Amino acid sequence: MANTQESTPTKTRKETLNRPKGTQDIFGNDIERWEYVESLCRLQFQNAGYQEIRTPAFEHTELFERGVGEGTDIVNKEMYTFEKGDRRLSLRPEGTAGVVRSFVEQGMSRWPKPVKLYYMGPMFRYERPQAGRQRQFHQVGLELFGLDTPAADAEVILMAMRLFQKLNLPNLSLEINNIGTPECRERFKSNFRQHVEPHLATLCEDCRTRYNTNPLRMLDCKNPTCKAVYAEPDIKTFLETDFTSEDCQVHFAGVIQILDALKIPYRRNFYLVRGLDYYTKTVFEITSTNLGAQNAVCGGGRYNRLVEDLGGPETPAVGWALGMERLMALVGELPKRDLDFYIVTDQHAVAFELADALRGQDYKVDVDLSGKGFGKQFERAAKLGARQVITIGEAEAQNGELKLKNLQTGEQFTHKTAAFLDQV
Ligand code: HAM
Repeated sequence: MANTQESTPTKTRKETLNRPKGTQDIFGNDIERWEYVESLCRLQFQNAGYQEIRTPAFEHTELFERGVGEGTDIVNKEMYTFEKGDRRLSLRPEGTAGVVRSFVEQGMSRWPKPVKLYYMGPMFRYERPQAGRQRQFHQVGLELFGLDTPAADAEVILMAMRLFQKLNLPNLSLEINNIGTPECRERFKSNFRQHVEPHLATLCEDCRTRYNTNPLRMLDCKNPTCKAVYAEPDIKTFLETDFTSEDCQVHFAGVIQILDALKIPYRRNFYLVRGLDYYTKTVFEITSTNLGAQNAVCGGGRYNRLVEDLGGPETPAVGWALGMERLMALVGELPKRDLDFYIVTDQHAVAFELADALRGQDYKVDVDLSGKGFGKQFERAAKLGARQVITIGEAEAQNGELKLKNLQTGEQFTHKTAAFLDQV
């Protein structure tokens, strides 16, 4: 895949005609690999009863402010927002808010529960580009609406783990935490503030702000000094005595029980709080040590209040999204689809008919369009790695025949076209 571009202070005309910083062209061998993985995802989701949903790439800005949360970096610093008339619109920074908006607007709460949806597509965040972090990136995600059971959490986690196992992703770990309901967090806030207050002067500016606005988010800080403070024994012990309600703890224990029974390894990470405001109860991330600093390939959790917050009826929900660029960086060799037949010809009408019939039987077929001599056309077939070459010259076209050559063995036969199509 092409690298993320670097900009220089003075932009030449050529630079402005190149792709913008933090974006990528996906093509050639990469696109074949992407398509393979996307079709594997679709198949797995469809087999488990998830249905695709396609929502707009931009929405009203307010949807993300209310959905993702006004206090989050994503909304505060990273959205591509523009005005059209009296409307404020934003390119979607993530998929969940749009899917929930659609769930409410399209009356999906009246569908039989659970409603299981999946999506794929580009997302946009104005972040500083680096390896594994783009301004336009792609997510594949799934959301399950209507159930507040541990089994629902376990199913969505399992969907991700099984997908990654199928793709043989290396060095993965599942980190999981329980962040409770907003009420649980009110209790957490006051206790946590007491614990942190003596250290306040040493904390970074962001954490000092979050101390007042959203102390839970302090645990997400990457600053080493702040991290060291939150790892101090008294704070660590406070965090590890789960601050959530009994109901939340029972729910979480139920999720863990299923993961244990399925022998899915996980690590309880009491510091995992996620960067979006809508989560309740279970949150999780799947990381790989092969990814460097941006090591999360998938993140998600339960969000029981979001549907209501966005104007719908009370509807619990849970889901996740994976980053395709990060996933593809972890995926090794994938099976390649060879070219089954290359048709060498100067009789294009006949050749196209034959190609149609073969493609209808799911063969991969290419017809030579060059008008060059058959020798050159054979060279092209070999270059493309075709397994077999079909030759249709004037004589074959007139006799309803074709010549078939196996490029691996060199064997060559003449067949009646109709009989060949019957037996192929
Ligand atoms: P998120 O953790 O913000 O969650 O993003 C999910 C995944 O998208 C990340 O784990 C990462 O792989 C990828 N990703 C995020 N930002 C970038 C970026 N700038 N460049 C490349 N990849 C990136 C969500 O978006 C939630 N909507 C997930 C969810 C669904 N929760 C419940 N349902």
